[in-house]
Amino acid sequence: MPEKNTDMTSTKTFHVLTFGCQMNVHDSEWLARALTVRGWTEVSEDEAEVYIVNTCSVRDKPEQKVYSLLGRLRAYIAEHPDRFVAVGGCVAQQIGNDFLERYPFVRLVFGTDQVGRVPHALDELLEDGERRMALLDFEDGYPSQDAVDPESAAVTHLPGQAFVNIMKGCDNFCAYCIVPFVRGRQRSRRADDIVRECEVLVESGVREITLLGQNVNSFGLDKQGDGTSFAELLERVAAIDGLTRLRFTTSHPKDLAPEVIDAFGRLDALCPSLHLPMQCGSDNILKAMGRKYDMERYMGLVRGLKEVRPDIALTTDLIVGFPGETDEDFRQTLAAVEEVGFESSFSFIYSDRPGTRAEKMPFKIDRKVQGERLIELQTLQETLTRAALKRCEGTEAEVLVESRSKVQDGDDVISWRGRDRYGRVVNFPWPQAAGDLAGKLVRVRIEIAKKHSLSGKVVGELW
Ligand code: SAH
Ligand code: SF4
Ligand code: F3S
Repeated sequence: MPEKNTDMTSTKTFHVLTFGCQMNVHDSEWLARALTVRGWTEVSEDEAEVYIVNTCSVRDKPEQKVYSLLGRLRAYIAEHPDRFVAVGGCVAQQIGNDFLERYPFVRLVFGTDQVGRVPHALDELLEDGERRMALLDFEDGYPSQDAVDPESAAVTHLPGQAFVNIMKGCDNFCAYCIVPFVRGRQRSRRADDIVRECEVLVESGVREITLLGQNVNSFGLDKQGDGTSFAELLERVAAIDGLTRLRFTTSHPKDLAPEVIDAFGRLDALCPSLHLPMQCGSDNILKAMGRKYDMERYMGLVRGLKEVRPDIALTTDLIVGFPGETDEDFRQTLAAVEEVGFESSFSFIYSDRPGTRAEKMPFKIDRKVQGERLIELQTLQETLTRAALKRCEGTEAEVLVESRSKVQDGDDVISWRGRDRYGRVVNFPWPQAAGDLAGKLVRVRIEIAKKHSLSGKVVGELW
């Protein structure tokens, strides 16, 4: 946080800070774009008149981060009483009006369905310095938020890449998860609207699109659906001329249809990588989690995917220390992770979330045991990741360049970072004088596998 007010900037400036998943990143991007269109300017955090915090509630830790940030902002705003904070996203939906009661400098609380109303609300709050507002309702249908104006469509988190929302909410109520409470019921967006947004993005220079939803495999199966299945949607988006890479997240194993598996073998644009959250490898725990699949089903999906795309890169989410998890259950998770050979995984210690079924379950696992299990799992994953990356040495990869690498060690040569079609991070050097590569595709010969990334040299053309 800055120490003092160095610059009383003009009105209508904002700064957005985002916690959580791609949904939030996408909502924040949309908000920044919509505010800019209305005459606002995005500035650094020490200049912003309005500080927007987009929050995540999936575990206790990100929730606590929000309170500690607001604690720091309290001191900061005491020195700049003309400024204020807007809190949005999943913690805002969860805590609601209490934010207004606890933090006088918070003048807007907005829930996950209300992002579309925020630009107008912020204008109103600027006009009337006394007002405070809570926008917390869930909408019955798919909230009308996504109209993209062609001019700013391609201004996204990474050059040449965009997220496109295909649905809101989640109906699964996995026993541990707060998402259905803070994101509301599943509502699919109309396929025509999705395809149109993708076309606009591709026309404005986007080459990689990630379709977003909490459970994309059940797209179209709610009452808002227009009859288009997820496999049909993939087909339509993949057919857009000029789209080089199509991805989607997140997939639920219980709903992954055979047609979607086939799509990996059929659609050129569909990247050979899939994030398929397994959560754990024990049928007993999967049952207690309410995941509605067993390991036989999960392994069947993995076999099917590997049949159509033997090179597919699978990644996953895992929870350790769910209530009642025995050592034997945990061993089954380790064995399953090894059998699938995930390229990478996100693993989490089970965290009690208010209002969920798991919160009330008996046999909570000791913190120390949870920690030990996490380390054991992550150690196994490191070995698998290292082996997967090592196999890439000597191969050639198509890399979509994202940005300059974090580490730079030359004056004339810049190190760039991008991703291959499998989602692996690739770093490579390129002469400074050759200009900005972000958003370009290059061919890279992979020379060295590092712990979490690959590095190599450019061979051939950029395009
Ligand atoms: N819709 C996605 C996941 C959204 S949450 C899906 O079903 O896969 C992202 C991940 O956070 C989950 O996959 C899960 O692994 C983890 N997670 C969710 N709730 C959690 C909790 N209470 N404790 C620990 N991890 C949790
Ligand atoms: Fe949470 Fe389960 Fe829905 Fe994923 S599918 S968001 S883990 S309730
Ligand atoms: Fe977090 Fe909400 Fe996403 S709880 S993971 S920001 S849906």
